[in-house]
Amino acid sequence: MSKIKIHDKVFESYLSEQEIDAAISRVADQINHKYRGKQPVFLGVLNGCFYFAADLLKKIDVECEISFVKVASYQGTQSTGNVRQLLGLDQKLKGRHVIILEDIVDTGNTIESVVDTLSNMGAESISIATLLYKEEMYEKDIPIDYIALSIKSDFVVGYGLDYDGFGRNLNEIYVLSEVQNIKDYDNMLNIVLFGPPGAGKGTQAAKLKEKFNLVHLSTGDILREEIKQDTPLGQEAKGFMDKGELVPDEVVINMIGNCLNQNKGAAGFIFDGFPRTTEQARALDNLLQQHKTEIDLMLSLEVDDEELVDRIIQRGRESGREDDKNESVIYNRILTYNKKTAPLKTYFGDQGKYNSIDGVGTIEEIFDRLVETINR
Ligand code: AP5
Ligand code: MG
Repeated sequence: MSKIKIHDKVFESYLSEQEIDAAISRVADQINHKYRGKQPVFLGVLNGCFYFAADLLKKIDVECEISFVKVASYQGTQSTGNVRQLLGLDQKLKGRHVIILEDIVDTGNTIESVVDTLSNMGAESISIATLLYKEEMYEKDIPIDYIALSIKSDFVVGYGLDYDGFGRNLNEIYVLSEVQNIKDYDNMLNIVLFGPPGAGKGTQAAKLKEKFNLVHLSTGDILREEIKQDTPLGQEAKGFMDKGELVPDEVVINMIGNCLNQNKGAAGFIFDGFPRTTEQARALDNLLQQHKTEIDLMLSLEVDDEELVDRIIQRGRESGREDDKNESVIYNRILTYNKKTAPLKTYFGDQGKYNSIDGVGTIEEIFDRLVETINR
């Protein structure tokens, strides 16, 4: 489900372009049927109606006139309360069939004031067509003749409707999300690239990084660099890595914390080989929350053990990686993965983020599978 942020609020997809289009087509059919030969005047109520008016009127094939008004609202005296005034009405309505176009009808206050004003202008008939109708909130007796979509009393935005001035240009309708503040919804793309040793995490991460402009964080690569530089961290990690064991959680968690701090403003991250334990997964969630973001999805490359061992032995001939050279170390890496890391599939599954990807095939084929899942 796609989410967006407008000002301080998170909204999620609610009505798609297709649903809106189909509903408007239904209303257009009804109007075309009823008003043939009657030359109606369509009166759009700005600002919110502009998308609805444009898309509806493209589907209207009866001869008609089109005009727009705006409702100005100001605080009147105590006795008059909130006064609404109709601005911009330059259309003669005497003897005409008027169809008012609204983006949304909720309490009905606006529509009531529009109808009140128009009813003194000698129109032959006045009817109302609205894109959205909040039945639960409607307080008036005026019938709403054409309703494209009925919705609950939630706050919606998009397709002409705004939240504090913004969001009108969205092509679909979004509703205020129940989950606020988890993520900044700032278009970051954060991926956990998951899989056993030799599954192709590093290979695919290099390609995904290019395609989506992401920062690639491989804890294995960072640790090997520390070993190469002979840092205290590298010295500590080497013993574990050479045996195919996991480096202690706090070491890698600190490393990732530093990397996130060094890459503020990144378009997103690919986490390759991290998290590898539940402890690390929880720590990653917390770290990302501090950065006002979260993991979007976990992509798990599935490759059978035989193929894994073949690939790693093959690479071990050229790579110089200590842990690729010895078959028993390779088996221990796979064993450690199955015991400590594979359970994270459930962890991410519980968050609705787990995606299993067939990791056997050409590098391009697998890349296409990953991209398709990311874009879904
Ligand atoms: P790490 O460096 O992460 O190694 P790994 O998980 O064992 O995985 P690899 O890097 O070997 O494989 P990969 O999935 O990246 O596959 P690749 O693309 O290279 O970790 C090393 C060690 O560091 C750990 O054992 C641990 O000690 C420590 N460590 C790291 N992170 C840690 C953490 N978070 N917590 C604790 N300890 C941590 O591909 C493999 C080979 O296959 C390549 O030769 C490639 O060319 C080939 N290949 C790729 N795709 C295909 C394909 N489609 N068909 C045929 N061949 C392919
Ligand atoms: Mg790797």
